[in-house]
Amino acid sequence: MKDINGRTRICGLMANPVGHTLSPLIHNTLAERMNINMAYVPFEPKKNELDAAVKGAYALNILGLNVSVPHKVQVMDSLSAIDPVAAAIGAVNTLVRIEGGYQGYNTDITGLKRAMEMDGVEIKDRQVVILGAGGVAQTAAHLCAGEGAAGIWILNRTYENAVALAKKIEGFYYTKCTPFRTEDFRELPKNRYLVIQTTSVGMYPNVDHAAIEEEEFYQMVETAYDLVYTPFETMFMKYAVSCGAKAYNGLRMLLYQGICAYEIWNHTVVPEEVAEEIYALLKKELKVK
Ligand code: ATR
Repeated sequence: MKDINGRTRICGLMANPVGHTLSPLIHNTLAERMNINMAYVPFEPKKNELDAAVKGAYALNILGLNVSVPHKVQVMDSLSAIDPVAAAIGAVNTLVRIEGGYQGYNTDITGLKRAMEMDGVEIKDRQVVILGAGGVAQTAAHLCAGEGAAGIWILNRTYENAVALAKKIEGFYYTKCTPFRTEDFRELPKNRYLVIQTTSVGMYPNVDHAAIEEEEFYQMVETAYDLVYTPFETMFMKYAVSCGAKAYNGLRMLLYQGICAYEIWNHTVVPEEVAEEIYALLKKELKVK
């Protein structure tokens, strides 16, 4: 247990439910290793308490907050300022204390960017397929368009949601973004794609499924990037690997969205060896080798 004293800075996470979060492990280990007097705690406000929670946090001098499901969109109504990238995505996962309130950022996007860099996955000039069109897909699509993907295909169960996301992306960037019904994947141009998997299909406890299960799809995959990390190797990853693709899970994104928030709050840069040490701790916590 670290020493808490009169100068300890408090950060935390607002999510509901919050009980299974790995963020306290990430931030409290960072604070310890980087010798910063900060403690990170979980909060579980209800939706109708969110505005009061943000105002109360400010009154209590809380330095920063992460925000997770289901509050990432609604919390924007309680902020004093919003970073332009977070505003474009339409979701905020990090609050930073400023004069009079909090400014919202989205470190899911910067975290995903750093995670993919660490995994050696390039986006520039790639043909990218995004599976899903929800909140996480928004982040992935903005990142890919912003990083110069050659083309983006949004495949989703509900076509209308894919259309809405593709329109939004084309409104912000030059990258061509095409909506597809998931089951129409055979009509994709023949390519070896970078596929980013953003749906919850395949996540524990439904570990035996993937958003697409047909082998023909996986023959078009060059790199499979699943944003799920429980299980550590998802069915999506297994299918891709069996067709010769490289596959990655979402644990590094989780780690780096936390590191990016920590760096903003503490005006510091986390060295790679500390990041890797925390990655190993996360794996241990998830009971993977
Ligand atoms: P998140 O913030 O995690 O992205 P979300 O906004 O609820 O969560 O989005 C979930 C995504 O997973 C959506 O693309 C959803 O598809 P729909 O738009 O058709 O709802 C997709 N999804 C969830 N469950 C699914 C399932 N059983 N089969 C296929 N897609 C699913």
